Amino acid sequence: MITISTPGKLMLLGEHAVVYGYPCIVTTVDKYLTVKVRKISEEQDVILTPGVSDDKFVREAVVVFRNKFSIKQPIHLETKSELGNYGLGSSAAVTVAILKTLAKLFNVSLDKRELFNLSYEVVKKVQRLGSGFDLAVCIWGGTIYFDGKSKKVEKLTDEKLPIVVSFSGSKANTVEMVNKVKRLKDKNSKLVEDIFKSIASLVEKGKKAIFDKDWVTLGKLMTKNHLLLKKLRVSTDKLDRLVSAVCKAGAFGAKLSGAGGGDCIIALVSSEKKKQVELTIEKAGGEII
Ligand code: MEV
Repeated sequence: MITISTPGKLMLLGEHAVVYGYPCIVTTVDKYLTVKVRKISEEQDVILTPGVSDDKFVREAVVVFRNKFSIKQPIHLETKSELGNYGLGSSAAVTVAILKTLAKLFNVSLDKRELFNLSYEVVKKVQRLGSGFDLAVCIWGGTIYFDGKSKKVEKLTDEKLPIVVSFSGSKANTVEMVNKVKRLKDKNSKLVEDIFKSIASLVEKGKKAIFDKDWVTLGKLMTKNHLLLKKLRVSTDKLDRLVSAVCKAGAFGAKLSGAGGGDCIIALVSSEKKKQVELTIEKAGGEII
């Protein structure tokens, strides 16, 4: 039996722009998705996916692996998730975890880049769109700078960042939100390109702030990124309310994280202000996760 866990993710800076080839900064969370796989003597695979909302990624990952390495041996595969349904990247985490466990079970050696390429093939088959940033952070871990065009990864840090995460209460649909931005870009390409360029400049500054552990600057960049995402029309009233409430309560900064239209906000907070920020989130109707 092979068991492997991969972490969930949170986007620190750069969502949406990354889909169009700009860079982003993304970090892992200390909540995991676990996959257990073993060989079985039955004729058909047994695949159990509790905690995974969309099992298309699971099934496609198995198919892609089998085709790539010409493996027919039936397997028993089971998932377990701590990621919930909050937009912490469970589809990416399960895709990477399955390919990793299968590689180990069948003694196939895959380096990080090969694992990324194979995982990205799965995501493109299932979803057709997506930058792959979420797969990259599952594979490289810690906090990374990811280039949306070349798909290159630069590790920024493995240290914990002082983040508080709150679920807004409603689920986001990534494909819908990415298509919404595409429609806006088709209508007003200059406006959207300018927003993407401004986001990319925040990402470059954010990289330096993370190297310098300058949370005051990183927080400001996050709040600016939120305002740009608002201009892209992917925020919601609830996300805006949570962001402004935590900033008033003393966070260094905050933003929605991910596709928008729901899911989570992340706030960068000093240990002295953490309690106050958490109380504020609860009062504003957010759920701390
Ligand atoms: C979704 O979490 C982030 C997006 O940038 C999509 C992607 O990069 O695949 C909106």
